[in-house]
Formats: sequence, structure tokens, C-alpha cells
Amino acid sequence: ADSFEHALESLRAGEPILVHDAADREGETDLIYHADAVTPEAVARLRNDAGGLVCVALGHETAEAFDLPFYSDAIDHPATGDHELGYDERSSFSLTVNHRDTYTGITDDDRSTTIRALGAAAGTPDETDFAAEFRVPGHVHLLKGAPDLLAQREGHTELGLALADAADLSPAVVVCEMLDDETGAALSPTDARAYADRHGFAYLEGSEVLERCR
Ligand code: 5RP
Ligand code: CA
Ligand code: ZN
Ligand code: ZN
Repeated sequence: ADSFEHALESLRAGEPILVHDAADREGETDLIYHADAVTPEAVARLRNDAGGLVCVALGHETAEAFDLPFYSDAIDHPATGDHELGYDERSSFSLTVNHRDTYTGITDDDRSTTIRALGAAAGTPDETDFAAEFRVPGHVHLLKGAPDLLAQREGHTELGLALADAADLSPAVVVCEMLDDETGAALSPTDARAYADRHGFAYLEGSEVLERCR
């Protein structure tokens, strides 16, 4: 199968994929799983092998159903007034959450509990009482997809959600940047691809996702 089909199969099978956005955007490669599949071992891989910020992207409608705002709209602080991102119009950050069954919220067990519950909630939004199930703030960063997804924004938030949709999965994916342990910079696409090959994981360029999903 081609790498796009491999990526969809992987998401369905609970395996991670790697997605590089674009050299003229963040220039980052995120390790991505569907949220339903995130075990404590997967959280360990995210923090050890990726090393960036562990975030769950929710589809726009799902986030709206749960009353989840964009962080910058929700917080009345002068520093949220102008985002000045070098690579995009605005951040996709929403609130941070913990599942109410967690203790500190940060352990691999706790974060996987929160992330899998977010996956389940996104699969059955009508049956979810978000505030009864999760507390804010917490240790998992939520990201909110753009309303028109890839037509509006080409971040990992939207790339990951578009891939979940193409795989017929609910709109909830966990994303985390791959960082270089030697330099602390974003892992280069060459090294990210080598990591993917070493583990048998699918690697996609954002441009391939745009071609196939848009
Ligand atoms: C949060 C981020 C990541 O880059 C993540 O991929 C989401 O952002 P975007 O949708 O802008 O790529 O900064 O850790
Ligand atoms: Ca590491
Ligand atoms: Zn990103
Ligand atoms: Zn980033």
C-alpha cells in the first residue's frame, strides 16, 4: 500500500504515524495516534521519542458541542490580544483537561486515561457530559480544529483530524512534536523519516495529506 493508505491503516490499528507540516510553516514532524488507541505505553513513546507537547486535537463541531473555546478567545488577558505567530494566523490551542478519574493527571496512566476518554467522548458527543467527565485545567492540552478544516488552516491540528476522518475514525487525535535529543531543535524531516522507517511507521508530508484529503 502507499504511505497514505499505510497511515490510515495505522491509525485504525492504533499505531502511530508521523506527519511533517511544511518547510515554510512550523517545519515540525508530529507523532500522531488516534485518541482511542492511546495506552500508557503510547504516552511513554510520545514523551520519550517525540518529546514535544502532548496535545489532543478535537474537531471543531465536537469542541463546540463540549463548549470548548479557543484559548485566546476565552482568556481576557492583554497578552492574548495579538498572537503574532510567525507561521500561522492563529493558534489552535483550547483549554487543558484531566479526566476526573485521574490523580495528578501527568503520569502515563493518567494521561492515557484522559486521552482515551477524549476519544470516546468524540465518538459519542451526544452522550457526553463533558464537565461531569473532565476537569479544567489539566495536563492534556486540547486543540480545536478550524471550522472548515484544511480549507482554512494547514496545521497538524487539521492534518491529523483530516486523516482521522479519511480513516473513518472519530475527530480526536493526539499529536506531539518530534524534537532532536542532541540539539533540542525540531527533528529534521530526514531524521524523522529514518525514525519512521526504523519502526515501520508511516511518514507523510503535509502536502500529500492536502492532495488526498482536500
Ligand atoms: C502544539 C503545537 C503543535 O505544533 C501542534 O502540531 C499543533 O499546532 P498546529 O496545528 O499549529 O501545527 O504547537 O504543541
Ligand atoms: Ca527522547
Ligand atoms: Zn504543529
Ligand atoms: Zn509546534
